[in-house]
Amino acid sequence: MGGIPHDQYEPKSNAEKWLHKRLPIVGLIHNVIMIPTPKNLNWMWIWGIILAFTLVLQIITGIILAMHYTPNVAMAFQSVEHIMRDVNYGWLIRYTHMNGATLFFIAVYLHIFRGLYYGSYKAPREVTWIIGMLIYLAMMATGFLGYVLPWGQMSFWGATVITGLFGAVPGVGESLQAWLLGGPAVDNATLNRFFSLHYLLPFVIVALVALHIWAFHTTGNSNPTGVEVRRGSKKEAEKDTLPFWPYFVIKDLYALVVVLIVFAAVIGFMPNFFGEPDNYIMADPLKTPAHIVPEWYYLPFYAILRAFTADVMVVQFTSFITGGIVDAKFFGVVAMFGSIFVMALVPWLDTSKVRSGRFRPAFRFFFWLLAFDFMFLMWLGSRPAEEPYASMALYASFYWFGYFLVILPLLGLFEKPQTPPETIEEDFDSHYPPKSAE
Ligand code: HEM
Repeated sequence: MGGIPHDQYEPKSNAEKWLHKRLPIVGLIHNVIMIPTPKNLNWMWIWGIILAFTLVLQIITGIILAMHYTPNVAMAFQSVEHIMRDVNYGWLIRYTHMNGATLFFIAVYLHIFRGLYYGSYKAPREVTWIIGMLIYLAMMATGFLGYVLPWGQMSFWGATVITGLFGAVPGVGESLQAWLLGGPAVDNATLNRFFSLHYLLPFVIVALVALHIWAFHTTGNSNPTGVEVRRGSKKEAEKDTLPFWPYFVIKDLYALVVVLIVFAAVIGFMPNFFGEPDNYIMADPLKTPAHIVPEWYYLPFYAILRAFTADVMVVQFTSFITGGIVDAKFFGVVAMFGSIFVMALVPWLDTSKVRSGRFRPAFRFFFWLLAFDFMFLMWLGSRPAEEPYASMALYASFYWFGYFLVILPLLGLFEKPQTPPETIEEDFDSHYPPKSAE
């Protein structure tokens, strides 16, 4: 870690020395736990640990569910009912896993928006950000695959609609869709492969998280001021930082307990609040539900997908210049993936010299508008695809793209930011004056 060690690992006992020469794993764990961390981190820096905890929780509850679940269209729905009714504490394990997905996405959205506000994505943390984006995509895929497994009405119809999007790819769409489904429609082969991939992907996420952590341990954490830790001398660096253990471990544990109290209340009192009642009806390929809505965490992107209909000018123009190859459906799919892609490019789109939104008043206005836009799109995604929602979704989608592609690059050039403090120590002391100054 960039030359600011608080406490380098020195093997003490003979056994430690013996192991250290052969596999320096204790030293590695020591360096991870003792990483010098900016001492002014606020409560928005807890979500990474909450995410790590939730990932482990999802894997453990998922493995137990898989022991009792049957990935076959004739038995899947009943096997979930069996888990809920007959398996000891099966209801608790299932509800924890089901609501764990919601906790995971709440935490990831807060973690991402924290990064967007404080400019955590800016150099030298671009790789941490890009790996984060890959984690996010893998999370979206895992959630989608998992939602199909209970084989309820929403499972079936959601899978039909979403895999249908791949059918919109010009030329190869139909073959691609059949290849994904393992046949011409959502059926047993689909359920089986979705189960297999839903089991696999979380471990891919674990590997990506290891890279993510490695990346930000290499650069060091950012912090609310966006000012870097001083690296000139060990003494200065130690004035800006504290070791992760015990200071931040205790803080994160405190936050985890608070989050878990709320989480337990949701599981205990309103376990189906974030779910869809239709998914308690077994999948019926002959009966389409009145409204097919995805899980809440996909809704903003679902709204963007549906916003670009055939009567929108930019869609008509694109269709015209591509000779009809790009139709409205494909345009919507590109817009949906594009809306995540532009977010991945933010380290290069944000031209500001000042990193943290704390010192950028004009940026703050547009940032909060983006946060509102995100919530608004989420609400619009749950509305039927008709007026006035369709036009609102179109404007909200334009703002999403406009923020990343136009506003951020220009803001950095034209806004007048305030002056951040010289050092992290200065920021810390202004919040918690040293004893002698009190
Ligand atoms: C399973 C999912 C994830 C886990 C377990 C995870 C874990 C962590 C942890 C433990 C930290 C350090 C503490 C903190 O800043 O909260 C961190 C930092 C960071 N994460 Fe994530 N993360 C995940 C997903 C993401 C995603 C989706 C993004 C956005 C694209 C992202 C972007 C970042 C950035 C930019 C930092 C550096 C912040 C800084 O240095 O101040 N992470 N992550």
